[in-house]
Amino acid sequence: MNYSISLQTMLEDAQRMDVMLHQKRTLTKSMCDGVMVTQHGKTYLSFCSNDYLGLRNNPPQQQVTGAGASRLVTGNHPAYARLEALLAMMKGTEAALVFGSGYLANLGTIPALVGKGDLVLMDRFSHACMIDGVRLSEARWMRYRHNDMEHLQTLLETHRAKHRYCLILTETVFSMDGDRAPLTEIHRLAEAHDAWLMTDDAHGFGLPAPYPNPAAIQMGTLSKAVGVMGGYVAGSQALIDHLVNHARSVIFSTALPIAVVEASTAALQLMQSELERGERVMRYAAYVTDALILPPAQSAIVPIIIGENEAAFAVQERLKGRGILVSAIRPPTVPNGTARLRVCLSAAHSEAQVTELVEALREITVKR
Ligand SMILES: Cc1ncc(COP(=O)(O)O)c(C=O)c1O
Repeated sequence: MNYSISLQTMLEDAQRMDVMLHQKRTLTKSMCDGVMVTQHGKTYLSFCSNDYLGLRNNPPQQQVTGAGASRLVTGNHPAYARLEALLAMMKGTEAALVFGSGYLANLGTIPALVGKGDLVLMDRFSHACMIDGVRLSEARWMRYRHNDMEHLQTLLETHRAKHRYCLILTETVFSMDGDRAPLTEIHRLAEAHDAWLMTDDAHGFGLPAPYPNPAAIQMGTLSKAVGVMGGYVAGSQALIDHLVNHARSVIFSTALPIAVVEASTAALQLMQSELERGERVMRYAAYVTDALILPPAQSAIVPIIIGENEAAFAVQERLKGRGILVSAIRPPTVPNGTARLRVCLSAAHSEAQVTELVEALREITVKR
């Protein structure tokens, strides 16, 4: 077996096979008006929509009309191309593909890349939807200790050569800890062992990042900092063409409503023109960690580790009593003995509101 097959070679092989079997799919821009569909400037009477009752044109629905079909049938409104071009530009990649949600992006992408006989190595703190995607792929999988590069290296040295492809998965910013993955080191290890790196940027997108993301496969969501709904993968054109043909959550799921796609485009444009929002939230996070003498903030998420479940819950309730909502996160979401408050800051907070939180936390945690 040739162990040094690169991602590009795999994508080219899969594409050759799709063409040979006459099953290569491409996305066609479609504009739907009732049962009429316009593609490439020509209007057709469509029998492709799943709008069985004709309710898509019902007045109350017109604000958020459903797409009526999957993107490969007639759901691929030109609004998708605009959103994907903008995403690719912001991510610095050749192309991007939008999915129905971040969960669906991971669920579709991972099994499109690896399967039986392949190996997935993932950070122990990776999100449930990465785990679900890996399970669906039927690849062998192992988790390395959180951000522990020595452990990742050992797993690569011990297991990589026994498998065809190897995919390394990590979040860029971890959802429960707010810390960042050491992407440069992970990428170096991936290169040294002919493994592919895929990142989940659900909690990083929109915030100033310390360095560019070197991953060939960059997944993210439009439901957090973007504030809408949907997921995406950004990468090479070959990767995106491959996903259009092999990511089952795109192929076999209805496209997002056009209004949702357009809302994401508008939010991304704001994100770009108002970079100050990302800077402000990072300033707030730094203020909270400084004031409470915590490790420096790396993202908009500041964990305050309390330890015991009951104690974390008690702090949550006391904050609530003062009109402040902060979630207490307990096992199994986080490891035993590390129950915590998960403070999520937003550019929509005012400085006075952040100060109010800090003062309440100081009082409550001192009195505890
Ligand atoms: C790290 C991570 N990835 C993916 C997702 C899923 O994204 P979505 O809510 O868009 O399905 C989440 C959501 O909680 C997440 O935290």
